[in-house]
Amino acid sequence: MEQYVIKGGNPLVGEVEIGGAKNAALGIVAAAIMADETVTIENLPDVRDINVLLNAIECIGAIVDRVDSHTVRINGRYIGSLCVDNEYIKKIRGSYYLLGALLGKYKKAEVALPGGCNIGSRPIDQHIKGFEALGATVDIEYGLIIAEAERLRGSHIFLDMASVGATINIMLAAVMAEGRTIIENAAKEPHVVDVANFLNSMGANIKGAGTDVIRIRGVASLHKTEYSIIPDQIEAGTFMFAAAATKGDIMVKSVIPKHLEAASAKLLEIGCEVEEFDDAVRVVAAKQLRQTHLKTLTYPGFPTDMQPQIATTLTLCRGTSIVTESIFENRFKYVDELSRMGAKIKVEGNTAIIEGVEKLTGARVNALDLRAGASMVIAGLAAEGITVVEDIVYIQRGYERLDEKLRSLGGQIERVSSEKEVQKFRLMVG
Ligand code: EPU
Repeated sequence: MEQYVIKGGNPLVGEVEIGGAKNAALGIVAAAIMADETVTIENLPDVRDINVLLNAIECIGAIVDRVDSHTVRINGRYIGSLCVDNEYIKKIRGSYYLLGALLGKYKKAEVALPGGCNIGSRPIDQHIKGFEALGATVDIEYGLIIAEAERLRGSHIFLDMASVGATINIMLAAVMAEGRTIIENAAKEPHVVDVANFLNSMGANIKGAGTDVIRIRGVASLHKTEYSIIPDQIEAGTFMFAAAATKGDIMVKSVIPKHLEAASAKLLEIGCEVEEFDDAVRVVAAKQLRQTHLKTLTYPGFPTDMQPQIATTLTLCRGTSIVTESIFENRFKYVDELSRMGAKIKVEGNTAIIEGVEKLTGARVNALDLRAGASMVIAGLAAEGITVVEDIVYIQRGYERLDEKLRSLGGQIERVSSEKEVQKFRLMVG
């Protein structure tokens, strides 16, 4: 099992390039199989979840040509199987987009029930409600979700909650359905808009993505395109909070600052300087930071995927902060890990009360899920002494070359796979 070993205490300083958005890429790779022509996708993040999805579509017959680590060509013409089930696909959340894509194109799909980070119960009832409204029957048998329809017909669907996954999945199923589909209470996240833009570039007719109401007119087929995925707002936010927690100065490059406004606003509130450029954001933490309160919300609110990273930063801010998680009910499990490092956090229901401390100290901690794992790395970089983060496989699901990027900012972090290597690092950093 690989680990990160970190010697904390250095402010992170310098510039970092952000990659393509993982959660947009999952929808876009699935959507790509809906065309019988070659689709070229650029700015694809080279992370585990994407590679698992590419492997899954290859297994059912799609042609996948990795042009380089960030560019792929996909052609769905030769798909021969509509059943997606393997050991790895079960572990990723984005596998559910193959349901919408295959159902939309072939009117049938069988996909292993999705896994993903253990951050709550994560039902998919809204996805199923959408497929059924379009005319499909949906059953769960032998660990597979089986969706099937004679024909798909446009429908008026009202989501009970603005679910990112359900919005994208219903869009996928509806783009080739007969007639008009309306999704009300749709999710507005930038990656929803990116998947819609990608589908439109393939000839789909989707209007309103980024608002509460998405209108789709079904088309008979989708065609080739070349498309570049938007920057990953969560990777960017992770570096922004790493700058704050380590009292650093980072220029986060290749981003869309508008997508980072919720993070920027909180960083300003706690006392950082935040400078916005056309496609970059600079975060400077020059003085003692102070507490704030926040609640996670759907876009444009503060994203749940940045909650562990800001909470970690707040452990080092003066005063008492209150963080309320309103999207996933189980997203504070990392608090026990942070407590090992000296953080003072009390969780009551979906609220964490964080009493700022002078310092964190290095410890052996676990990456319990993707974003919790990233926040352990931030804590390790800010803490005194050595931190070992175990189970970094979770982090690798969504962060590309995290250790390398942090080293380029002056972070002392190595990826190791044995205790001997941990000891070697300890000797090296003194
Ligand atoms: N929900 C339902 N029923 C549904 C769908 C969702 O009750 O049918 C609930 C969920 O349980 C949750 C809320 O609605 O309480 C929002 O869930 P949503 O569907 O928006 O989340 P998701 O599609 O499962 C995606 C991202 C998550 C990100 C959330 C929120 C992917 C693959 N995952 O999950 O990303 O936290 O949206 O923005 O896109 C991550 O990247 O670390 C990650 C967990």
